[in-house]
Amino acid sequence: MRGGIVIVSFLILRSLVVSSSQTVPDFNFFYWVNYWPGAICESQKGCCSPPKGNKSPDFMIHGLWPQFNNGTWPAFCDQTNLFDISKISDLVSKMERKWTEWGVWVCPSNETNLWEHEWNKHGTCVQSVFDQHSYFNTNLKFRQRINFLSILKHKGIQPNDGFYSLNEIKNAIKCVIGFAPGIECNEDVKGNKQLFQIYICLDNYAKEFVECPYVPDKSCASKIKFPKSPEKGSLGEHLSVMSSVLTT
Ligand SMILES: *[C@@H]1O[C@H](CO)[C@@H](O)[C@H](O)[C@H]1NC(C)=O
Ligand SMILES: *[C@@H]1O[C@H](CO)[C@@H](O)[C@H](O)[C@H]1NC(C)=O
Repeated sequence: MRGGIVIVSFLILRSLVVSSSQTVPDFNFFYWVNYWPGAICESQKGCCSPPKGNKSPDFMIHGLWPQFNNGTWPAFCDQTNLFDISKISDLVSKMERKWTEWGVWVCPSNETNLWEHEWNKHGTCVQSVFDQHSYFNTNLKFRQRINFLSILKHKGIQPNDGFYSLNEIKNAIKCVIGFAPGIECNEDVKGNKQLFQIYICLDNYAKEFVECPYVPDKSCASKIKFPKSPEKGSLGEHLSVMSSVLTT
């Protein structure tokens, strides 16, 4: 009797160990990255509204990137499971609104297949946690959970070409999610540092926010510009900035 219980519990334990070892992520945490279209589009070549999706100004998803604690990351892990839009057809209309790629804000617009790039580069390395559908859906769920624009506006930080303290921006987000984000800046035509991307860290199952083990040093100043949202025909030049970030 007692021996039977021992054997049964041994089998249960063994099955738990085996099944969990198959799904343990082989990376340490995620960056979840969103960008501000206004930092792309204040461009002398003008700025277009995207042909599809939401035209009201808002932060846009860039992607969900697995990271190692040592500052490196895996990329392009699986050539046999490349992006297939038919696997996410139910998500597309939401993604057009919340995951617009920056190339389409530029005139003439330049689509570079951001979704495909994000899955093939980053998503293929997180298949211990996600399939294509759950990878994209997780991004959308976090986007629903955090509204950066309203968090910042709530603290009086508005996209009005004004300059705001970098710490103020970080603290506004920290107040809501509990951890300071990383902020990446780029430069406007006059060389002013401006708010470009926000990095949030998630645990390696992308369930909860965590303290960032490190954030990339992305050369902001202590005060940075929060550029106006894209308007058709606005002036500025940012195509060079674009090409430098398209590889991430
Ligand atoms: C970083 O960590 C990963 C995972 O442990 C490892 O594969 C990689 O070789 C490490 N890279 C460096 C530069 O230490
Ligand atoms: C679109 O972006 C790609 C990737 O950066 C670049 O190689 C290409 O020249 C761009 N096309 C136009 C029309 O700007």
